[in-house]
Amino acid sequence: MRQYSAKYPTDLPAWIKLKQHAKVIASQSVATWFSRDRERFARCSIKAGDLLIDYSRQRVKPATLKLLTQLARQAEVASARSAMFEGKVINTTEGRAVLHAALRAGARDRFSVDGESVSTEVRRVRREMLQFVDAVIAGDEVGATGERFTDVVNIGIGGSDLGIVMATQALRHVSQGLRVHAVSNVDGTQLVDVMKTVDPVRTLFVVCSKTFTTLETMTNANAARDWVAQTLGEAAVRQHFAAASTNHAAMDAFDIDPSRRFGFWDWVGGRYSLWSAVGLSIALTVGRSAFEALLAGGRQMDQHFLKAPLPDNAPVMMALLGIWNNNFLAAQSQAILPYDNRLDRFPAYLQQLQMESSGKRVRHDGKLARCDTGAVIWGEAGNNAQHSFYQLLHQGTRAIPVDFLLPARSSGASQPQQDLATANCLAQADALMQGYAQSDAIKELTAKGLSAADAKRLAPHKVHEGNRPSTVIVFPALTPRTLGQLIALY
Ligand code: F6P
Repeated sequence: MRQYSAKYPTDLPAWIKLKQHAKVIASQSVATWFSRDRERFARCSIKAGDLLIDYSRQRVKPATLKLLTQLARQAEVASARSAMFEGKVINTTEGRAVLHAALRAGARDRFSVDGESVSTEVRRVRREMLQFVDAVIAGDEVGATGERFTDVVNIGIGGSDLGIVMATQALRHVSQGLRVHAVSNVDGTQLVDVMKTVDPVRTLFVVCSKTFTTLETMTNANAARDWVAQTLGEAAVRQHFAAASTNHAAMDAFDIDPSRRFGFWDWVGGRYSLWSAVGLSIALTVGRSAFEALLAGGRQMDQHFLKAPLPDNAPVMMALLGIWNNNFLAAQSQAILPYDNRLDRFPAYLQQLQMESSGKRVRHDGKLARCDTGAVIWGEAGNNAQHSFYQLLHQGTRAIPVDFLLPARSSGASQPQQDLATANCLAQADALMQGYAQSDAIKELTAKGLSAADAKRLAPHKVHEGNRPSTVIVFPALTPRTLGQLIALY
């Protein structure tokens, strides 16, 4: 069991200095820092794998970064990171290691929990799962009537749904396998809608549940099972169901064929599980090589996280910026705005990842935290969001930090259209930083022919305060590898 420091972060010397520092910079503007420091972009950007994390529009200057890095050191981030990768029991309430990094490890990496190697087992399950995927896609594994499977229906919720929905949507352009559908909610409407569009003869259901007891999942799984039994006969059920779970007894009870069940372990948290057998529906959709590339991308970010010095470490800096914005600059939420529509479920995925992980008001020892913990995560795909809620980002009373996710190349549509999206994204990031002054609004309105009185009356409605923080994460294109990097980054 890992021993956590009894110290409160708020008592650390760097925290106390950051409080003071936040007051000092309160009236300073990022746009001015930019104009005075030619090196600002170089100073405030990190290359991690294929991602460029540009946080130069955040409200940080060199002194802030120095203090934030000191905070990370004083909070013993490096030893916490080692404890996680060494498979120590860092989840002290459930007495578990947190080792999803082992699931995306390379052939030579070794991971163990409590001194016991887990790498061989991880590789065995992955090998069996991908053999099954190959056989289904090739038409060697077929349904009860001998027809090839054309559709996979993932039945799961939370971590057994969100990652699958997000990744299969994000990688639609590289899909070469089955059409994917997802059923999560207990009200049954998704299942009914899916049943109207798929042919049971060619449909494979994947029951995805770490516990195999979750009410929503088991309700939907039983309803799907009844449907298969009614349409194809009871004997067909075994051939039309596969499962990913840690609960072998419950899979027995459901009568999942042993060759179609893929296990994982208690050290895989639900929200981190898409890298495990929970990713079965992803692999059935995108195919073996894309799934392996997704894992490789995740590993690339893990290597960066392990090796890069703290000030150049993208996951560490992103976490520190979150702490800075929420605890020192009074932000309460964090918007995630992807400029590739295929990433439109990425914000929903991150909601669970971050709000379930950091969504508590007590510390490891059960004492109340004395600082803000997780921010409210929300977001929507770029231009759709521009025409929906950007007014509040630019002109509302609260400054909401934004992460823009920006691929340079289109994921299989027209490059000129992606270029338009890129131009919009960068213009929004600049506008959030620069704002729009009342004097400029008056000039604009007067130039349009308004009287001086009308221009003065309307100008306040056009003012953008500016100095609103954002990070732009640029990557060459949305691919399995860059998606893996992005997920692991967060
Ligand atoms: O509601 C909490 C939760 O346990 C999540 O953490 C998890 O992802 C989800 O329910 C689904 O759980 P399971 O995979 O066991 O069905």
